[in-house]
This record gives sequence, C-alpha cells and structure tokens, in this order.
Amino acid sequence: MRVTVIGTGYVGLVTGACLAHIGHDVTCVDVLPERVAAVNNATPLFYEPGLAEILSTTTRERRLRATADTASTVAGSDITFLAVGTPSRDGEIDVSYLRAAAEKVGKGLRASKGYHVVVVKSTVVPGTTDTLVLETLERTSGRKAGEFGLCMNPEFLREGSAVVDFMNPDRVVIGQLDASSGSRIGDLYRAFDCPKLFTTLRNAEMTKYASNALLATLISFSNEFAALCEGTPGTDIEFVMSALHLDRRLSPISHGHRVSPGILSYLWAGCGFGGSCLPKDVAALRNFARRNDVPTTLLDAVANVNAARPAHLIRLLESVSGSLPGKIIAVLGLAFKPGTDDVRDSPAVALVDLLTHGGASVRAYDPMVAKLPANDTVDVVNSMESALRGADAVVIATAWPDFANCDWNRLCRTMRQPILIDGRNALRGVKLPESAVYVPIGTHYTPKGIVLGK
Ligand code: NAD
Ligand code: UGA
Repeated sequence: MRVTVIGTGYVGLVTGACLAHIGHDVTCVDVLPERVAAVNNATPLFYEPGLAEILSTTTRERRLRATADTASTVAGSDITFLAVGTPSRDGEIDVSYLRAAAEKVGKGLRASKGYHVVVVKSTVVPGTTDTLVLETLERTSGRKAGEFGLCMNPEFLREGSAVVDFMNPDRVVIGQLDASSGSRIGDLYRAFDCPKLFTTLRNAEMTKYASNALLATLISFSNEFAALCEGTPGTDIEFVMSALHLDRRLSPISHGHRVSPGILSYLWAGCGFGGSCLPKDVAALRNFARRNDVPTTLLDAVANVNAARPAHLIRLLESVSGSLPGKIIAVLGLAFKPGTDDVRDSPAVALVDLLTHGGASVRAYDPMVAKLPANDTVDVVNSMESALRGADAVVIATAWPDFANCDWNRLCRTMRQPILIDGRNALRGVKLPESAVYVPIGTHYTPKGIVLGK
C-alpha cells in the first residue's frame, strides 16, 4: 500500500521505516528540513537500535523517502498516519501540531482520487479524533467522512526498543470511524501475527492512556514501597519486589517453567518515571478527567509520588554527605532510561536542577548524552572518570549497564569522598571497596551502613 506518515519523530519515523520494511511504499513528511534530509540520507537524528539499518535498506530500495510537501504526498497515497507530537502545555495536550497537520492532510484529500484513510497515531485524549481531526479534515478537504476513512491506531512502542516493539506488537488496536476504514488498516497490518482489535475511535484513544497510566501506577507503587522500606529497618525493596514477582499471577508457570516478566513488570523502584510520554500522559488524563468532573484520586497520587522522587534522592544524599553548598556531586546518567539519548522529562535532569539550585557543582556523565539542552549550569563530561574525580559523592540516576561493569575500586580512589547514592539500584551486587559508603534506594540507611532485610 502507499502510505504517508506525517511527523518523523520517534513514532513517525519508526512507523514509516517498519511499514516500508514489511513491503509498503512509504513517504515520510516533516516540517523540519533537517529531519527530511536525515531520512533521505538514512541517518536518523536520534538513536534507536536497528533503525539506521532499516532506513538504509528501505531508502536504497526506494520503498521509503521523505519530503516536506504534505498535500501532494497525501494525494498520491492510500493511507496517511498523523504521528506529530502532542506535547504537554499546562498539563493538557497541545493539539496545535495535530490540527496544523490535519489541515494540510485535508488539502491533500481534496486532490486525492481514490478512497483514502487517515489514521491518528499520536496519543490524544478521547474525543479528539472524532471531533478536532474529523472536523478539520472535512473542512479542509471539502469531503464528508465516509468519502474518506478515519482511524485511531495508538502506538505502544518504547524508546530504545522501538523497532523490535513495532515489529512484534502485543496487539494492534484499530479505532474505526466505520468498517471500511478499519478493514483498510487491518490489511495494512496483515503481516503482524497478533490480536487485532477493532473498536470505536474513543476506545482506542482511551486504551492508550490506560496502558501508560497502568505502567506509571506500577512504578509509583514500587517507589512508595521503596520509601516504606527505607523507613523500616530490616526491610529491602529488592527482596520484597523479587518475592512479589514470584506470585504466579505476575510470573505464570507454563509447561513447568516460570515465565518471569523481568524488568517488564514495571514493579522496580527507581528515581521516578520520565520520558516524553508517561509523565505527559498521566497529566493529560488527569486534566481530561477534571474537565469531565471525574475524580482521579489514584492518578493524582501516582503523579505526586513520582514528582517527589528526585527531591527524595537529594534528601538521601544530604543525610549521608551533609548539605549541598560547596559540594561537587557527580551524576551518572542523564537519559530518562538506559538505551536512549532522550532527556525529555528525565528524573536525572530534575535531580541535576535540584542539586545546582541547592548550591552543589554538578558534573554529569551519560554514555549517550553530550549536553543538556538549555542548561549551562551543569558540566556534562565525557567519561565516568572525569565525572567522579574529586567528587564528594556520586548519584546514579540512569541504570546504564556500563555503570555496574567498571572498576569501582579505582574510581572510588579518585573521589574526594567515596559516597555512592544509587537511585536506580544499579550497583546492587557489584563488588565495591570497603571504603565506599554505598546507599541504594529502598533500604534503611544508618551512619553504620545499610541493613539489607534478606
Ligand atoms: P516527536 O516530537 O519526536 O516528533 C514529532 C515530529 O512531528 C517532529 O519531527 C516535528 O517536526 C513533526 N511535525 C510537527 N508538526 C508537523 C506537521 N504539521 N507536518 C509534518 N511534521 C510535523 O514526537 P514523538 O515522540 O514521535 O511522538 C509523536 C506522538 O506519538 C505523540 O503523541 C506521542 O505521545 C506519541 N507516542 C510517542 C512514543 C515515544 O516513545 N516517543 C510512543 C508512543 C506514542
Ligand atoms: C512508555 C511505554 O512503556 C510505552 O508502551 C509507550 O508506548 C510509551 O511510553 C509512550 O507512550 O511514549 P517509554 O517512554 O519509552 O515507553 O519508557 P519506558 O521504558 O516505559 O520507561 C518509562 C520510565 O519508567 C523510565 O524513566 C524508566 O526508567 C521508568 N521505569 C520503568 C521505572 O522506574 N521502573 C520500572 O520498573 C520500569
């Protein structure tokens, strides 16, 4: 099929590249010339494992290209995905990019000959597709819904494993305006061997929010328990959570073997959930509910627990190393999680801000982040050694595997004080020198050391 994808961010570019990879003819559209050039040169502007390889093959084989021209691209294709950003503005989603993109798509629909289906891929609150998008398309195309199709197909991929997630979906949810719209998108995904759920546009929109809200809830639940363990001598969050995971409702036994969800359970404590989606989507959902007079007691708590995590880590740090002014603090990890260079809404960035506002000098290192946008108060260095040398303490904010696989004996010797605050429990089990004061999260810390509740 001939597919147009509007927006070449994480979702749009991965969608376009993967659809081209399974044989469709795809044109990506972006308003930013550098993004268009990046696709045509098969050099993505962000890191995503496997993406550069797929881009390279599909552009070479002329199944994928990019342009800035929306209308004529839409007119020459069968399906258009809207995958533009829906960022947070005062807690609500900003639909201005979506509206602007839909206007241009409508102009393309005006000129298109055959039946064309527009698909909203961006995350939008329930009622956005069948009002804002539908009305914009009808107004700018001069056509009535039914003459063109409309679907809402939420995306569940994770950054850092976006290609694998897209190619192996747990399910494809297809919200449809009518059966013809849905069946066209069902055909597009025919190669995927997974449940395909056809439903209303609003169910599709709500399912996306339910999915991210559940993940956020599990993480805040784990973080609240971590704090509880810290306040309860003789307990340890890692033990408690590992034991919890053995409940067969979390790790079912199949053919005599336990199928463990591992890190995919989202029941691991840390310094909070970040990224471009979980925080934004929880906020958008709460505001959506408020506008509809529906209380969100649980989601309010989920957001509050999360917002408090970076400050909690600072308190933990100060309880060991004293107050911040004049201290040099190394921060390991800036990305919101390992495997990505994305720092949007990263708890590590919030932590760095709190440290600098508190009077500490911060030296940060992340294997994939060379600088922090719009922040010149933090010194982002290019190695762990440079971050730790002469530091009064180090805080681990992202669980990059590299941090556990290094010579901590040597590194600790270079620090002014070998105090290690592990906000991701990334060094649990790692051999550390006797001199190190190691404080993971989720255990009771006393000046005599931590007491692991095994
Ligand atoms: P992004 O900000 O990385 O990319 C959006 C792209 O759209 C940008 O390149 C921008 O230049 C382009 N754009 C904006 N207006 C345009 C227009 N009128 N025409 C053409 N291009 C235009 O966004 P993203 O992270 O890919 O997210 C896109 C949507 O998908 C959001 O709604 C997000 O919530 C959702 N989502 C994101 C992820 C993720 O992991 N990032 C996962 C699932 C769902
Ligand atoms: C998340 C969802 O997992 C995707 O399904 C969804 O499509 C996407 O949001 C989206 O809508 O954009 P992503 O933002 O890539 O994906 O990140 P996750 O891997 O889910 O991690 C989110 C945050 O939670 C990270 O900061 C991570 O460190 C944290 N986390 C995760 C924990 O603190 N504990 C856990 O047990 C798991």
